[in-house]
Amino acid sequence: MLLEGKVAIVTGAGQGIGREYAFGLAREGAAVVVADIDEVHGKQVEADLREAGHQALFVRTDVSDEESTKELARQAAEAFGGIDVLVNNAAIYAGLPYESFEEMPVERFDRVMAVAVKGTWLCTRAVAPYMRLRGGGSIVNQGSTAAYHHTPRRMNYNVSKAAVHGMTKSLAKELGADGIRVNCIAPGAIDTEATVSTVPSEVLSRLADMQLVKRQGHVADMVGPLLFLASDQSAFVSGQVLVADGGVILNG
Ligand SMILES: NC(=O)c1ccc[n+]([C@@H]2O[C@H](COP(=O)([O-])OP(=O)(O)OC[C@H]3O[C@@H](n4cnc5c(N)ncnc54)[C@H](O)[C@@H]3O)[C@@H](O)[C@H]2O)c1
Repeated sequence: MLLEGKVAIVTGAGQGIGREYAFGLAREGAAVVVADIDEVHGKQVEADLREAGHQALFVRTDVSDEESTKELARQAAEAFGGIDVLVNNAAIYAGLPYESFEEMPVERFDRVMAVAVKGTWLCTRAVAPYMRLRGGGSIVNQGSTAAYHHTPRRMNYNVSKAAVHGMTKSLAKELGADGIRVNCIAPGAIDTEATVSTVPSEVLSRLADMQLVKRQGHVADMVGPLLFLASDQSAFVSGQVLVADGGVILNG
């Protein structure tokens, strides 16, 4: 197993890709901390992981709140003895409306940025001291090909993901000397409930046609890239954005 004895935090693990990430890490032997603002779904994932025989803990977390991220790191380290992997996956994605930059309420722009961008920073800042105690670690941020496609009427989301891609490189530079690698996954369209309920089906089929891999992307397709970046399989890789979109963006 790739992550035997390791402790991993996944933010936004209550549903969708984050839930799949939590199971992927657990199947490779990691104890998984499910961090989500949604208590009902987060607790369900904790129960499902335990039911499947894995070590799991749910910590209700708002990644945009500094105290909440500190408490997440504290509880994770207390429960499992340290932290080795952080997956910054939480974002405002489900239900995010398509709207022009002129219609977009300032509060919605702020919230999208606060969760994806500030949240990635704050979780990394809260967890880094614990990773240093272990002699290193791996941080995987969740970007998006929206940062390259510049999806029309989704300016807030596009720029938040472009910022996550950029932050990955800044954090990787600052944390490299501590043995902490920071990388990013940029998924294309993945058929989570959040995608299916917000992206019109004709847009999804058009995207699948543009892909080199001629089918819809599934949550399971994201687990391989995550395990590569989270584990020592990528020991010599840091500061990178791995595009996992079936082959649309060829120069990410
Ligand atoms: N699904 C796709 O097609 C796709 C494509 C590219 C990138 N992504 C990215 O992948 C990630 C997951 O996507 P998904 O489809 O599973 O989305 P989703 O909306 O289904 O899941 C997001 C999770 O984040 C949680 N969350 C929201 N705000 C939070 C906060 N402040 N603190 C903690 N948790 C919070 C939600 O409760 C939810 O469980 C997101 O970062 C998304 O931007 C998704």
